[in-house]
Amino acid sequence: MAEAVLKIKNLCVDFLDDHTIVPAVSDLSIDIFPGETVGLVGESGCGKSTTSLAIMRLLDTNNARISKGSIELHGQDLTKLSEKEMQRIRGKEISMIFQEPMTSLNPVYTIGRQLTEGIVLHQGVSQKEAETIAIDMLQKVDIPRPEIMMKSYPFELSGGMRQRVMIAIALSCNPKILIADEPTTALDVTVQAQILDLMNSLRDELQMAVILITHDLGVVAEICKYVYVMYAGQIVETAAIDDLLNDPLHPYTQGLLNSMPDRWQGGDRLYNIPGTVPLPGTEIKGCKFADRCEYCTEKCRQAPPPLVRLDEHRSVRCFRSAGTQ
Ligand SMILES: Nc1ncnc2c1ncn2[C@@H]1O[C@H](COP(=O)(O)OP(=O)(O)OP(=O)(O)O)[C@@H](O)[C@H]1O
Ligand SMILES: [Mg+2]
Repeated sequence: MAEAVLKIKNLCVDFLDDHTIVPAVSDLSIDIFPGETVGLVGESGCGKSTTSLAIMRLLDTNNARISKGSIELHGQDLTKLSEKEMQRIRGKEISMIFQEPMTSLNPVYTIGRQLTEGIVLHQGVSQKEAETIAIDMLQKVDIPRPEIMMKSYPFELSGGMRQRVMIAIALSCNPKILIADEPTTALDVTVQAQILDLMNSLRDELQMAVILITHDLGVVAEICKYVYVMYAGQIVETAAIDDLLNDPLHPYTQGLLNSMPDRWQGGDRLYNIPGTVPLPGTEIKGCKFADRCEYCTEKCRQAPPPLVRLDEHRSVRCFRSAGTQ
């Protein structure tokens, strides 16, 4: 079996809010293998973006920190690196497509400049060579007339084109790992399908590992091999995608699946999991999902359920589903 390119072990991220420490991500472990896409899913506020920013070491150091755990890239622990060392990793080893494509493209620079900057920096080539690589990359992400695109500004592009440019920038230095945070959420369904296809084929061609972050299980089903379901800063279920879709174990995963429009068979109103994700820092003695769970018992209120491993790829954080009620 191939070596994991990225091993996240027991990662904890805290926010510092008015001198109080607020845990936002707790004890998160994920292994990622070359050529595979893993999905990180969960509702808004579960800690998905916080996790990705922690991996990239892009958390705001004024109010957030990795308080525990390790993030190993080929055996090197990223949590121990200096900012200078991290700059050599970002873009080259691990790239990220951010949740807000418009804010992560600089409005005052041409697409060409934004693409070539990283290529010159990481590959040590001349501006001219960088331009050739950039045009090549734009072709790879199916942008018509890439020479003209090089001279365009972000505001001149449609949402789908901007997202292709973001992917081109992220992949321009052949990273080993791509983190894509809600890469298709802002796009209409047809363009979304095209971008997912594109990510799939580039992953295979470049043998990248991809971490796909989304609240949309439909998107995960399209492109992921394994899924990590996150709730209130914790992994609550891990599974191969088919197992998760056919036999979701955690009541939260079941709720997410029932909320998918094409799965819902209960009438003309779409299912919604009642209640909301608790805010980080909310005191909860037992299971964090208890308030929203139809199977909640006294035990669930008293103690936090551990993440129980059921087989190689399957684990669940629920007394009932793990058979330890
Ligand atoms: N700098 C911060 N300080 C304090 N709390 C924060 C900070 N950044 C995020 N949070 C909180 O941490 C929780 C997790 O946020 P995060 O952005 O990681 O969620 P998410 O799963 O990416 O959600 P979405 O699907 O909306 O993008 C949220 O409750 C958010 O309000
Ligand atoms: Mg997010």
